Amino acid sequence: MSLVPIGEPRRKITVASLREKKLHHEPIACLTAYDYSSARLVDEAGIDIVLVGDSLAQTMLGYENTLSVTLDEMLHHTRAAHRGVKHALLVGDMPFGSYQSDPSDAVRNAARFVKEAGAEVVKVEGGEKRCELIRRIIDAEIPVAGHIGLTPQSLNMMGGYKVQGKDLSGVEQLMRDAVALDRAGVACMYLEGIPREVAAMITAEVKTPTIGIGAGPDCDGQVLVFHDLLNLTFGHPAKFVRRYADLGAAITGAVQAFRADVSTHQYPADEESYHLPKETRAALELIARATRARRRGRRLLSPCRRSPAPPPPEPPRLRAWPAGNCPTGTARERRPA
Ligand code: KIV
Repeated sequence: MSLVPIGEPRRKITVASLREKKLHHEPIACLTAYDYSSARLVDEAGIDIVLVGDSLAQTMLGYENTLSVTLDEMLHHTRAAHRGVKHALLVGDMPFGSYQSDPSDAVRNAARFVKEAGAEVVKVEGGEKRCELIRRIIDAEIPVAGHIGLTPQSLNMMGGYKVQGKDLSGVEQLMRDAVALDRAGVACMYLEGIPREVAAMITAEVKTPTIGIGAGPDCDGQVLVFHDLLNLTFGHPAKFVRRYADLGAAITGAVQAFRADVSTHQYPADEESYHLPKETRAALELIARATRARRRGRRLLSPCRRSPAPPPPEPPRLRAWPAGNCPTGTARERRPA
Protein backbone atom coordinates (compact mmCIF):
# COMPACT_ATOMS: atom_id res chain seq x y z
CA MET A 1 0.00 0.00 0.00
CA SER A 2 1.37 3.37 -0.89
CA LEU A 3 -0.10 6.82 -0.45
CA VAL A 4 0.18 9.11 -3.44
CA PRO A 5 1.22 12.62 -2.37
CA ILE A 6 -1.52 15.19 -2.87
CA GLY A 7 -0.76 18.66 -4.23
CA GLU A 8 2.81 19.94 -4.18
CA PRO A 9 5.66 17.44 -4.21
CA ARG A 10 6.99 16.97 -0.69
CA ARG A 11 10.31 18.46 0.27
CA LYS A 12 12.86 16.57 2.31
CA ILE A 13 12.71 17.66 5.94
CA THR A 14 16.05 18.83 7.27
CA VAL A 15 17.29 20.39 10.49
CA ALA A 16 17.02 23.79 8.75
CA SER A 17 13.41 23.16 7.73
CA LEU A 18 12.48 22.44 11.35
CA ARG A 19 13.78 25.90 12.30
CA GLU A 20 11.82 27.43 9.42
CA LYS A 21 8.69 25.72 10.64
CA LYS A 22 9.16 27.20 14.08
CA LEU A 23 9.69 30.66 12.59
CA HIS A 24 6.51 30.35 10.55
CA HIS A 25 4.52 28.77 13.40
CA GLU A 26 3.95 25.63 11.36
CA PRO A 27 3.40 22.71 13.74
CA ILE A 28 5.89 19.84 13.49
CA ALA A 29 4.51 16.29 13.57
CA CYS A 30 6.76 13.50 14.79
CA LEU A 31 6.05 9.82 15.33
CA THR A 32 8.17 6.93 16.41
CA ALA A 33 8.69 4.08 13.96
CA TYR A 34 10.96 1.14 14.45
CA ASP A 35 10.96 -0.85 11.24
CA TYR A 36 10.66 -0.59 7.47
CA SER A 37 6.89 -0.90 7.06
CA SER A 38 5.85 1.41 9.89
CA ALA A 39 8.49 3.99 8.95
CA ARG A 40 7.31 3.92 5.36
CA LEU A 41 3.65 4.34 6.33
CA VAL A 42 4.54 7.19 8.68
CA ASP A 43 6.73 8.87 6.09
CA GLU A 44 4.17 8.53 3.31
CA ALA A 45 1.46 9.96 5.58
CA GLY A 46 3.47 13.20 5.66
CA ILE A 47 4.98 13.11 9.16
CA ASP A 48 7.99 15.47 9.51
CA ILE A 49 10.20 13.47 11.86
CA VAL A 50 10.54 9.71 12.24
CA LEU A 51 12.05 8.98 15.63
CA VAL A 52 13.52 5.53 16.18
CA GLY A 53 13.00 5.92 19.90
CA ASP A 54 14.45 3.66 22.55
CA SER A 55 10.80 3.08 23.55
CA LEU A 56 11.18 0.21 21.09
CA ALA A 57 12.65 -1.57 24.09
CA GLN A 58 9.09 -2.03 25.36
CA THR A 59 6.96 -1.79 22.22
CA MET A 60 9.01 -4.04 19.96
CA LEU A 61 11.23 -6.10 22.23
CA GLY A 62 9.09 -6.57 25.32
CA TYR A 63 11.66 -5.25 27.80
CA GLU A 64 10.42 -3.82 31.07
CA ASN A 65 11.87 -0.35 30.38
CA THR A 66 14.32 1.41 28.06
CA LEU A 67 17.40 0.64 30.16
CA SER A 68 18.03 -2.79 28.65
CA VAL A 69 18.00 -2.01 24.95
CA THR A 70 21.46 -2.23 23.40
CA LEU A 71 23.27 -0.08 20.88
CA ASP A 72 23.23 -2.93 18.36
CA GLU A 73 19.47 -3.36 18.75
CA MET A 74 18.94 0.38 18.23
CA LEU A 75 21.16 0.36 15.14
CA HIS A 76 19.33 -2.65 13.73
CA HIS A 77 15.94 -0.92 14.04
CA THR A 78 17.24 2.44 12.80
CA ARG A 79 18.64 0.75 9.68
CA ALA A 80 15.27 -0.88 9.01
CA ALA A 81 13.37 2.40 9.52
CA HIS A 82 15.85 4.22 7.29
CA ARG A 83 14.93 1.95 4.39
CA GLY A 84 11.30 3.12 4.70
CA VAL A 85 11.90 6.87 5.01
CA LYS A 86 12.19 9.25 2.06
CA HIS A 87 11.10 12.70 3.18
CA ALA A 88 11.00 12.76 6.96
CA LEU A 89 14.00 13.63 9.12
CA LEU A 90 15.29 10.41 10.67
CA VAL A 91 16.30 10.65 14.34
CA GLY A 92 18.06 7.75 16.08
CA ASP A 93 17.83 7.50 19.86
CA MET A 94 21.10 6.77 21.64
CA PRO A 95 20.37 4.07 24.24
CA PHE A 96 21.25 4.11 27.91
CA GLY A 97 24.96 3.45 28.41
CA SER A 98 26.02 4.48 24.90
CA TYR A 99 26.88 8.10 25.74
CA GLN A 100 26.90 8.54 29.52
CA SER A 101 30.45 7.40 30.26
CA ASP A 102 33.30 8.20 27.90
CA PRO A 103 32.75 11.19 25.53
CA SER A 104 34.96 9.71 22.80
CA ASP A 105 32.92 6.51 22.91
CA ALA A 106 29.77 8.62 22.75
CA VAL A 107 30.95 10.40 19.60
CA ARG A 108 31.97 7.07 18.06
CA ASN A 109 28.56 5.59 18.90
CA ALA A 110 26.76 8.63 17.52
CA ALA A 111 28.75 8.25 14.30
CA ARG A 112 27.60 4.63 14.03
CA PHE A 113 23.98 5.82 13.90
CA VAL A 114 24.86 8.01 10.91
CA LYS A 115 27.31 5.74 9.14
CA GLU A 116 25.76 2.34 9.68
CA ALA A 117 22.08 3.13 10.13
CA GLY A 118 21.32 6.27 8.12
CA ALA A 119 20.22 8.48 11.03
CA GLU A 120 20.39 12.20 10.29
CA VAL A 121 20.17 13.28 13.93
CA VAL A 122 20.93 11.44 17.17
CA LYS A 123 18.95 12.02 20.35
CA VAL A 124 20.41 12.06 23.85
CA GLU A 125 18.57 12.55 27.11
CA GLY A 126 19.52 15.25 29.59
CA GLY A 127 19.91 19.03 29.66
CA GLU A 128 22.61 21.19 31.20
CA LYS A 129 24.82 18.30 32.23
CA ARG A 130 24.91 16.82 28.69
CA CYS A 131 25.77 20.06 26.92
CA GLU A 132 29.52 19.55 26.75
CA LEU A 133 29.02 16.11 25.24
CA ILE A 134 26.37 17.44 22.84
CA ARG A 135 28.84 20.08 21.63
CA ARG A 136 31.42 17.38 20.94
CA ILE A 137 28.95 15.33 18.93
CA ILE A 138 27.90 18.43 16.96
CA ASP A 139 31.60 19.20 16.41
CA ALA A 140 31.83 15.80 14.79
CA GLU A 141 29.21 17.05 12.27
CA ILE A 142 26.39 15.06 13.80
CA PRO A 143 23.18 16.98 14.59
CA VAL A 144 21.74 16.24 18.03
CA ALA A 145 18.20 16.29 19.41
CA GLY A 146 17.88 17.05 23.13
CA HIS A 147 15.35 15.48 25.46
CA ILE A 148 14.43 16.93 28.85
CA GLY A 149 11.74 16.60 31.52
CA LEU A 150 10.64 13.05 32.19
CA THR A 151 13.63 11.26 30.69
CA PRO A 152 12.95 7.50 30.85
CA GLN A 153 16.65 6.58 30.97
CA SER A 154 16.79 8.35 34.36
CA LEU A 155 13.99 6.13 35.68
CA ASN A 156 15.98 4.95 38.70
CA MET A 157 17.17 8.45 39.56
CA MET A 158 13.66 9.91 39.25
CA GLY A 159 12.18 7.05 41.30
CA GLY A 160 9.52 6.28 38.67
CA TYR A 161 7.88 7.92 35.68
CA LYS A 162 6.99 11.25 37.26
CA VAL A 163 5.94 14.53 35.70
CA GLN A 164 8.90 16.91 36.12
CA GLY A 165 9.01 20.64 36.83
CA LYS A 166 6.05 20.90 39.15
CA ASP A 167 7.65 23.12 41.79
CA LEU A 168 9.64 26.32 41.37
CA SER A 169 13.04 24.71 41.58
CA GLY A 170 11.93 22.07 39.06
CA VAL A 171 10.70 24.78 36.69
CA GLU A 172 13.99 26.65 37.11
CA GLN A 173 16.00 23.51 36.35
CA LEU A 174 13.95 22.82 33.23
CA MET A 175 14.44 26.38 32.00
CA ARG A 176 18.19 26.09 32.56
CA ASP A 177 18.25 22.75 30.73
CA ALA A 178 16.31 24.15 27.78
CA VAL A 179 18.45 27.26 27.47
CA ALA A 180 21.65 25.20 27.72
CA LEU A 181 20.47 22.89 24.92
CA ASP A 182 19.48 25.90 22.84
CA ARG A 183 22.93 27.42 23.25
CA ALA A 184 24.63 24.13 22.48
CA GLY A 185 22.85 24.23 19.10
CA VAL A 186 20.58 21.17 19.18
CA ALA A 187 18.42 20.51 16.14
CA CYS A 188 15.27 20.21 18.22
CA MET A 189 14.41 19.35 21.81
CA TYR A 190 11.88 16.87 23.10
CA LEU A 191 9.93 18.01 26.16
CA GLU A 192 8.44 15.01 27.90
CA GLY A 193 6.10 14.86 30.90
CA ILE A 194 6.15 18.48 32.02
CA PRO A 195 3.36 20.94 32.85
CA ARG A 196 1.86 22.72 29.87
CA GLU A 197 2.76 26.13 31.30
CA VAL A 198 6.45 25.25 31.57
CA ALA A 199 6.55 23.84 28.03
CA ALA A 200 4.96 27.07 26.78
CA MET A 201 7.61 29.17 28.60
CA ILE A 202 10.43 27.07 27.16
CA THR A 203 8.97 27.19 23.64
CA ALA A 204 8.72 30.98 23.82
CA GLU A 205 12.25 31.31 25.23
CA VAL A 206 14.32 29.16 22.85
CA LYS A 207 15.05 29.39 19.13
CA THR A 208 15.19 25.61 18.92
CA PRO A 209 11.95 23.85 17.88
CA THR A 210 10.36 22.07 20.84
CA ILE A 211 8.55 18.77 20.35
CA GLY A 212 6.23 17.82 23.19
CA ILE A 213 4.98 14.53 24.54
CA GLY A 214 2.83 14.99 27.60
CA ALA A 215 3.84 18.66 27.54
CA GLY A 216 0.65 20.35 26.32
CA PRO A 217 -0.35 22.03 23.09
CA ASP A 218 1.99 25.04 23.08
CA CYS A 219 5.12 23.28 21.85
CA ASP A 220 6.33 23.76 18.27
CA GLY A 221 5.50 20.15 17.52
CA GLN A 222 4.11 16.96 19.01
CA VAL A 223 5.36 13.39 19.13
CA LEU A 224 3.55 10.19 20.00
CA VAL A 225 4.68 6.61 20.17
CA PHE A 226 3.36 4.74 17.11
CA HIS A 227 2.08 1.85 19.23
CA ASP A 228 0.21 4.21 21.59
CA LEU A 229 -1.48 6.03 18.70
CA LEU A 230 -2.74 2.73 17.28
CA ASN A 231 -3.46 0.85 20.52
CA LEU A 232 -0.81 -1.76 20.00
CA THR A 233 0.25 -1.64 23.63
CA PHE A 234 -0.90 -3.83 26.46
CA GLY A 235 -0.97 -1.52 29.46
CA HIS A 236 -3.01 1.46 30.56
CA PRO A 237 -2.21 4.49 28.36
CA ALA A 238 -0.66 7.65 29.81
CA LYS A 239 -2.90 10.72 30.15
CA PHE A 240 -1.52 12.39 27.04
CA VAL A 241 -2.07 9.43 24.69
CA ARG A 242 -4.81 9.84 22.13
CA ARG A 243 -5.73 6.62 20.36
CA TYR A 244 -6.46 7.28 16.72
CA ALA A 245 -7.19 3.65 15.88
CA ASP A 246 -7.62 0.33 17.64
CA LEU A 247 -5.27 -1.90 15.67
CA GLY A 248 -4.91 -4.20 18.66
CA ALA A 249 -8.58 -5.20 18.33
CA ALA A 250 -8.35 -5.27 14.51
CA ILE A 251 -5.35 -7.63 14.61
CA THR A 252 -6.91 -9.92 17.19
CA GLY A 253 -10.13 -10.12 15.12
CA ALA A 254 -8.23 -10.87 11.91
CA VAL A 255 -6.05 -13.53 13.51
CA GLN A 256 -9.04 -15.26 15.11
CA ALA A 257 -10.90 -15.25 11.77
CA PHE A 258 -7.89 -16.85 10.03
CA ARG A 259 -7.64 -19.51 12.69
CA ALA A 260 -11.36 -20.31 12.37
CA ASP A 261 -11.13 -20.53 8.56
CA VAL A 262 -8.18 -22.91 8.76
CA SER A 263 -9.88 -25.18 11.26
CA THR A 264 -13.09 -25.34 9.16
CA HIS A 265 -11.21 -25.84 5.84
CA GLN A 266 -12.52 -22.53 4.55
CA TYR A 267 -9.05 -21.25 3.84
CA PRO A 268 -7.64 -21.39 1.23
CA ALA A 269 -10.45 -21.37 -1.35
CA ASP A 270 -9.99 -22.61 -4.91
CA GLU A 271 -9.52 -19.00 -6.12
CA GLU A 272 -6.67 -18.67 -3.63
CA SER A 273 -4.85 -21.72 -5.06
CA TYR A 274 -2.47 -22.02 -7.99
CA HIS A 275 -3.57 -24.25 -10.86
CA LEU A 276 -1.81 -26.28 -13.51
CA PRO A 277 -1.94 -25.00 -17.07
CA LYS A 278 -4.56 -26.81 -19.20
CA GLU A 279 -1.97 -28.74 -21.28
CA THR A 280 -0.11 -30.06 -18.23
CA ARG A 281 -3.38 -31.10 -16.61
CA ALA A 282 -4.42 -32.94 -19.79
CA ALA A 283 -1.04 -34.70 -20.03
CA LEU A 284 -1.22 -35.79 -16.40
CA GLU A 285 -4.75 -37.08 -16.93
CA LEU A 286 -3.56 -39.16 -19.87
CA ILE A 287 -0.76 -40.70 -17.80
CA ALA A 288 -3.18 -41.51 -15.00
CA ARG A 289 -5.65 -43.15 -17.36
CA ALA A 290 -2.96 -45.28 -18.98
CA THR A 291 -1.61 -46.29 -15.57
CA ARG A 292 -5.07 -47.37 -14.40
CA ALA A 293 -5.62 -49.35 -17.63
CA ARG A 294 -2.28 -51.14 -17.23
CA ARG A 295 -3.13 -52.08 -13.64
CA ARG A 296 -6.53 -53.42 -14.73
CA GLY A 297 -4.77 -55.44 -17.45
CA ARG A 298 -2.40 -57.03 -14.91
CA ARG A 299 -5.28 -58.02 -12.65
CA LEU A 300 -7.11 -59.77 -15.57
CA LEU A 301 -4.01 -61.87 -16.30
CA SER A 302 -4.90 -65.10 -14.43
CA PRO A 303 -2.58 -68.26 -14.55
CA CYS A 304 -5.35 -70.52 -16.08
CA ARG A 305 -5.61 -68.38 -19.24
CA ARG A 306 -3.86 -69.97 -22.20
CA SER A 307 -3.20 -66.90 -24.26
CA PRO A 308 -3.20 -63.80 -22.17
CA ALA A 309 -4.32 -60.45 -23.67
CA PRO A 310 -1.34 -58.30 -24.73
CA PRO A 311 -0.44 -55.69 -22.11
CA PRO A 312 -1.59 -52.12 -22.84
CA PRO A 313 1.05 -49.77 -24.25
CA GLU A 314 3.51 -48.19 -21.79
CA PRO A 315 2.23 -44.77 -20.74
CA PRO A 316 4.55 -41.74 -21.03
CA ARG A 317 6.59 -41.55 -17.84
CA LEU A 318 7.25 -38.67 -15.54
CA ARG A 319 10.89 -38.39 -14.68
CA ALA A 320 10.42 -37.59 -11.06
CA TRP A 321 8.23 -40.54 -10.13
CA PRO A 322 8.32 -44.19 -11.07
CA ALA A 323 5.10 -44.84 -13.04
CA GLY A 324 3.53 -46.72 -10.11
CA ASN A 325 3.82 -43.70 -7.79
CA CYS A 326 2.60 -41.10 -10.24
CA PRO A 327 0.79 -38.49 -8.09
CA THR A 328 -2.41 -38.31 -10.09
CA GLY A 329 -5.80 -39.57 -9.06
CA THR A 330 -6.92 -39.59 -5.47
CA ALA A 331 -4.71 -39.90 -2.43
CA ARG A 332 -6.10 -43.43 -1.93
CA GLU A 333 -5.05 -44.46 -5.46
CA ARG A 334 -1.56 -43.18 -4.81
CA ARG A 335 -1.14 -45.14 -1.62
CA PRO A 336 1.38 -48.01 -2.06
CA ALA A 337 -0.40 -51.41 -2.32
O1 KIV B 1 11.85 6.68 22.85
C1 KIV B 1 10.93 7.43 22.57
O2 KIV B 1 9.91 7.03 22.02
C2 KIV B 1 11.08 8.83 22.92
C3 KIV B 1 9.94 9.76 22.68
C4 KIV B 1 8.81 9.45 23.57
C5 KIV B 1 10.35 11.18 22.78
O3 KIV B 1 12.10 9.19 23.39
